[in-house]
Amino acid sequence: MAQTPPPIDNDRFRSVLGSYPTGVAVVTGIDKQGEPIGMVVGTFTSVSIDPPLVAFLPMKTSRTFQTLREDSDTFCVNILAADQEHICRTLAAPGDKKFATVPWHKSPGGNPIIDGVVAWIDCKYASVVDGGDHHIVLGSVQAMDRSRDTTPLLFFQRGYGRFSTGPMVIGSERETLHYARLAEIAREEIERLASDSQLECSLVAPVGHDAVYVAVADHSPQRRANSRLGARVPVTPPLGTLFVGEPNGLSEEAWLSRLGKASPETYEQARAKLARVRARGWSAALVGNLTPAELEQALIVYSNPQRTPEQERSFLSCVSAMFDMHEPEQLSPDEEYDVLQLSVPVRQACGKVVLTLRMGALPPKLSGSTLHAYLQRLEACASRIEKLIAAQAERTPA
Ligand SMILES: Cc1cc2nc3c(=O)[nH]c(=O)nc-3n(C[C@H](O)[C@H](O)[C@H](O)COP(=O)(O)O)c2cc1C
Repeated sequence: MAQTPPPIDNDRFRSVLGSYPTGVAVVTGIDKQGEPIGMVVGTFTSVSIDPPLVAFLPMKTSRTFQTLREDSDTFCVNILAADQEHICRTLAAPGDKKFATVPWHKSPGGNPIIDGVVAWIDCKYASVVDGGDHHIVLGSVQAMDRSRDTTPLLFFQRGYGRFSTGPMVIGSERETLHYARLAEIAREEIERLASDSQLECSLVAPVGHDAVYVAVADHSPQRRANSRLGARVPVTPPLGTLFVGEPNGLSEEAWLSRLGKASPETYEQARAKLARVRARGWSAALVGNLTPAELEQALIVYSNPQRTPEQERSFLSCVSAMFDMHEPEQLSPDEEYDVLQLSVPVRQACGKVVLTLRMGALPPKLSGSTLHAYLQRLEACASRIEKLIAAQAERTPA
């Protein structure tokens, strides 16, 4: 016999629906007195592209919606940014003249656009449909724009939060700290290597799907204005080869799967590059078609934990444009190369890779034999660091 389902009381409804996250928007307008008014909604949604329609659902008891509807034929939807929680709280609280502390300017339709929102959408009322204790308001889009390249404010289980790209973000701070402590043991070694070679030397650790610079010593003549310390690079083909299949790194399948819809040839090339790096024990990247300044800028954007998915995609397309420049088959002694960086693994006593030691800011047009000499210095330094890490592990009980 079928069991009678439990009744759907208000608390259950709120609790279950609260597990679905929403963005936060403010629907604004100008009242008859010429004053800005607005209400916070989590029910804003896109409805139709052709014709362009959007919707939101105000409570039938909302006085603000009543004024919005009665005083104007148009309204503007403002998509709040992640750093605008205070604006949300101000406008959602009861009271009048809520815009007194909220800076805004006029949309083409004459409605308030709150300064700093991610996007705004100017609408005419298309229809207002019955939706139980709410109205379903359909708006016909008249004008719209994205005004700020940042992440939106999110609402989930009655709390505010923000979007972050990439899995395994949780725990990454703890992991980064663990590797930063490990790198600290090697500080003198990388300082000496950087000063002897007059280059930038760094230690890079695998954290989630990224490789993070956990120690940097820069003695290159051009010395970067912003240190790479804390910068992130995705472990995605052809990058991060030395971490693939290592503890805390990605498995080979997971690494390859980050190529997504790439061609079978690209998959094959990535496998070949990985095999090459594993066989020779070092990784090299040549300078590609991006200028150092463009590369630096892309790295800064990718390293921002609040990067948007679009910014992440644009960085990944930079990486795939440089695919051929990574892991050249060989560095012939008599040929000249423009090298972006050279890396070697730093292993634990058990043989697993924990960090990579990297040389960057190399002068242009270095001969293959000079580069091999650099690689030897890197390997010698890595083996000294390995001894320091092993000695530290012996001193610290697990
Ligand atoms: C994150 C968030 C989402 C909200 N979403 C809605 C909504 O979709 N519809 C609605 O009527 N009220 C929503 N509210 C409540 C209204 O913003 C506001 O508090 C309410 O309309 C006040 O009623 P009043 O217009 O009578 O002053 C939301 C409030 C918050 C903080």
